[in-house]
Amino acid sequence: MITCSAPGKVYLFGEHAVVYGESAICCAVELRTKVHVEKNDDVIIESILGTTGPDLKVHPYVTHVIEMMKSLTDLRGVRIRIESELPVGSGLGSSAAVTVASIQALNHLLSCGLSPEDVAKTAHEIEIRVQGNASPTDTYVSTMGGVVMIPQRKRLPLLKCPIIIGNTNKFSSTKELVGNVAKLRSEFPSVIDPILSNIGQMSILAEELVSKNDYVTIGKLMNVNQGLLDAIGVGSAELSDLVYAARNSGAISAKITGAGGGGCIVVIAEDKDTMRIVKAIEDAGGEAIITKNTEEGVRLESFNGRR
Ligand code: PMV
Repeated sequence: MITCSAPGKVYLFGEHAVVYGESAICCAVELRTKVHVEKNDDVIIESILGTTGPDLKVHPYVTHVIEMMKSLTDLRGVRIRIESELPVGSGLGSSAAVTVASIQALNHLLSCGLSPEDVAKTAHEIEIRVQGNASPTDTYVSTMGGVVMIPQRKRLPLLKCPIIIGNTNKFSSTKELVGNVAKLRSEFPSVIDPILSNIGQMSILAEELVSKNDYVTIGKLMNVNQGLLDAIGVGSAELSDLVYAARNSGAISAKITGAGGGGCIVVIAEDKDTMRIVKAIEDAGGEAIITKNTEEGVRLESFNGRR
């Protein structure tokens, strides 16, 4: 049996603006999806969503991964078991993580020789097949790990402070939110384009700040980014409740991460304030997860029982 895992991600800056070619800064977080694979007569996929054969409704990403791998190599049956620390549909990149970890596990099982670049590219193609459209950000960061400036794919140093995620537990549709921003932009291009460009500028300013570990200034800019996300209509009352609960309990910064509408906020904080912020997020009706960023993207966890 082979086990691989891949991380989720948060956006420090730049969601939505990145769709229009602006810069964003995204980082892999130490919340992982693990995929165990072994050869089998039939295809069996097990997860919290159920146990199925190839099934585009219940397990669309993994079913597409298996089809893709069948076209590359002689694969008849496989048993795949998925375990995830990432909440589904919350903007933390759970679909990218399961896709990337499945491809890499099968890559090892079947000795396909795919490079990390190939894994990221294949995973992106599968996200497009399932979702109709997807930026390469999630699949790239989940494969490569680290703090990455997009679209430049420039690697920045890790943040050394805790990252807290606040989940509204409200499902958010990236496709719908991206569509709403597109509509607003076509209605008011002279208003919305400068906002998107300002978001991109914040990512560019933050590049140097991340290198200098200047979290206070990064936090100030993240808060401005939050205001601009509200301005383009991707906020919600639940997200704002969590943002202000976190800020009022000592967070350096709190903003939406990902598409918005529902899903999650990302908070950066000092160690000493972490538990107070967690409590404030929970008191405001959210679920809090303490994590940190990670250099490690997809990784082999075990190979025939050996670690
Ligand atoms: O919510 P997520 O993790 O799917 O992130 C969406 C980020 C957007 O910039 C809004 C869309 C994209 O494809 O980059």
